[in-house]
Amino acid sequence: MQASVHPVSKLPQVGTTIFTVMSKLAADCGAINLSQGFPDFQPEPALFDAVERAMWDGRNQYPPMSGLPELRAGIAAKVEALYGARYDADSEVTVTAGATQGLFTAIAAFVRSGDEVIVFEPVYDSYGPAVETVGGKLVRLSLSFPDYRIDWAAVRAAIGPHTRMIIVNSPHNPTGSLLSAADLRELAALTAGTDIIVLSDEVYEHIAFSPEGHQSVARLPELAARSLIVSSFGKTYHITGWKVGYVLAPAELTSEFRKVHQFNVFTVNTPAQAGIASYMQDASHHLGLADFYRAKRDFFRDAMAATKFELLPCHGTYFQLARYGRISSLGDRAFAEWLTREVGVAVIPVSAFYADGRDDGVVRFCFAKQEATLLSAVEHLRAL
Ligand SMILES: Cc1ncc(COP(=O)(O)O)c(C=O)c1O
Repeated sequence: MQASVHPVSKLPQVGTTIFTVMSKLAADCGAINLSQGFPDFQPEPALFDAVERAMWDGRNQYPPMSGLPELRAGIAAKVEALYGARYDADSEVTVTAGATQGLFTAIAAFVRSGDEVIVFEPVYDSYGPAVETVGGKLVRLSLSFPDYRIDWAAVRAAIGPHTRMIIVNSPHNPTGSLLSAADLRELAALTAGTDIIVLSDEVYEHIAFSPEGHQSVARLPELAARSLIVSSFGKTYHITGWKVGYVLAPAELTSEFRKVHQFNVFTVNTPAQAGIASYMQDASHHLGLADFYRAKRDFFRDAMAATKFELLPCHGTYFQLARYGRISSLGDRAFAEWLTREVGVAVIPVSAFYADGRDDGVVRFCFAKQEATLLSAVEHLRAL
């Protein structure tokens, strides 16, 4: 159909996300898809049983706007047990339609036209468009290469009178780096006495491999007091397609968050919430996740040692970065496309996470796959 109006795009730079592009190319070429981050294995049957039970029990109508009480209580209990932070289940925990909606709603609730939002590149791709949609201005800082750490002096220099929000992500997609306790103290010190809100994307909170484990901003009371923390059951229970997540924040921030949330999605799938609430009572599911993915990471890294890829460290998430300079001098997008079409393995070029397309010759593999999938991908890559 021919449009009769021609609006000026609010997001002129935005096209289809690289994840969709590479997954489609993988499907078109019959390539093994190690690009988009999703498991190729099933969640546990107990989770299906719990959701089915909820449906037969008649839990099929609108739940409360903020989420089912038993799910919010389960989340609050888990967060207290893990990070020692007390969030009130009624006024400080909100169930969202995945982390993506939590992030967008948080940005829409607090960022006004002209406000500055500091992000760190390589940056997860949903933050920027959300900020720009509501008229905010992105201040893009780079993580150091190749260890992908935050330069706190640069953050100090970037903070100004218009800074409204700082968005951090740990464990970090795409790099697998982690914020340390010292990083959190820096963030707390730099924001002390300001009106800056911290939006902390912690969707991979249960996939941290270092002995210190995941450093949630919830661990530091002075930081938690100005933060919205976003997480996702998609990553934790192998259900990325269910799109159920949550946001934690002090009551005053949650109240503003919910003003937007209730007109954005209003409520989130009832049977999924009820099923997750029942399933999460067994803490072994989330507590076992780091070991589960550590074994996959080590399996993949060991197998990849027989290829010419040079693997960067992976401290968390289910992503592995690799340099490919010993194989090709192509730019990373061209290399990823070539690898998908000609070698039969789809990956994500890391330049996609930089606004200016900065290209360090690094691609991202997802190892949230069955060993057989990883092995057959490595079989292809060994030939290079
Ligand atoms: C860093 C990060 N944040 C947010 C999301 C979105 O999570 P959800 O699928 O729950 O919306 C993802 C998913 O890949 C992610 O990697």
